[in-house]
Amino acid sequence: MNRPNLYNNQSVLPAESLGGNLIDGARNPFWLAPMAGITDVCFRQLMDEMGAGVLVSELVSAKGLLYNSEKTHKMIEVHSKPKSLVGIQLFGEMEEDIINAAHYVKETGAAFVDINLGCPVKKVVKKGCGAALMRDPAYLEMFLTKIKRGIDLPLTVKMRTGWSHDELTIHECVTAAYNAGCEWVAIHGRTRAQGYEGRADWGLITEVKQRAKLPIIGNGDIRTVGEAQRLLSDSGVDAVMIGRGALRNPWIFKECIGLDTNEFESPCKLLDRYLELLRTKYDLRNTIIFLRKFASWLVYGYPGAAGFRSSMYHLLTINELVQNAHIFFERVSHLPKPKFESSEIFMASGHG
Ligand SMILES: Cc1cc2nc3c(=O)[nH]c(=O)nc-3n(C[C@H](O)[C@H](O)[C@H](O)COP(=O)(O)O)c2cc1C
Repeated sequence: MNRPNLYNNQSVLPAESLGGNLIDGARNPFWLAPMAGITDVCFRQLMDEMGAGVLVSELVSAKGLLYNSEKTHKMIEVHSKPKSLVGIQLFGEMEEDIINAAHYVKETGAAFVDINLGCPVKKVVKKGCGAALMRDPAYLEMFLTKIKRGIDLPLTVKMRTGWSHDELTIHECVTAAYNAGCEWVAIHGRTRAQGYEGRADWGLITEVKQRAKLPIIGNGDIRTVGEAQRLLSDSGVDAVMIGRGALRNPWIFKECIGLDTNEFESPCKLLDRYLELLRTKYDLRNTIIFLRKFASWLVYGYPGAAGFRSSMYHLLTINELVQNAHIFFERVSHLPKPKFESSEIFMASGHG
């Protein structure tokens, strides 16, 4: 398997020109994981600018797209001239819904459709979607095959290691994805039953990679550049996906590919850039909500972070928010960037 070029900074090639191997179009092997309510078009663009190798949207309801919900259509927007491949993650219980929704995905200029097979949330699995699809690999193969035949974008999947410790169907599900013609499988190394508890099982991910006939993307608990690089090389996976680690350290992708950190934007510059992007897409209320969340992740670990976070909720204008954040970051600018310790519990719930 060819590893993606570490330093491919050109604009992304159209999927059709990649000669069938989507992964060859990845800019580098350090990718942004999908996160609901976070990896929208603005955050993806920001992480594109910060060097993430591939960008995946939050999970999007295929039915929501077919009902023409404005909110859902906003979730599949793709920023102009992405440097990295952008995928839109869909979920749904009916293959036809996903096939029909993929037409909208294609129109946005996305490079691939990703299917969510990892969501542990009750509302989703009750309908037979998300991680529930891992309980029957034979059905999964038929499901994915039908989707693959019905869409004209490359197809990828993201899954967990199985439903529970007693139902570790990962090998069978990876085979199902291969037989269905998927481009790669991204694996969050936990079962559905685990939720976000315990540690991601990188031993199992390594074993899956050794047996798999298609590219494997490892995911789970990567919090530092050292972990990203070590897990990539020790496990032999084709790329790693980073979720929460990129929220606490949005510079992680640049650092992973070895760019000099001194040249990077300061937290203030990053916040200002994110604000600029949010303003092009959202109204005032939503801009403030996204900006507050982003600033609150950036300050974790600095002295005074808890006080800063609670003060943010009393500030009602963008100017006040930005000014407050600038003052905070200037005050801590002499300190080293805080570590995201593996013992810390941070955002222990999500849709994959
Ligand atoms: C807030 C949040 C939302 C998430 N939403 C999604 C999602 O929409 N689709 C998905 O496949 N995974 C989703 N995930 C799972 C992540 O992609 C990733 O698999 C998981 O967080 C483990 O990786 P990490 O330790 O690098 O964060 C979400 C995780 C979090 C924390």
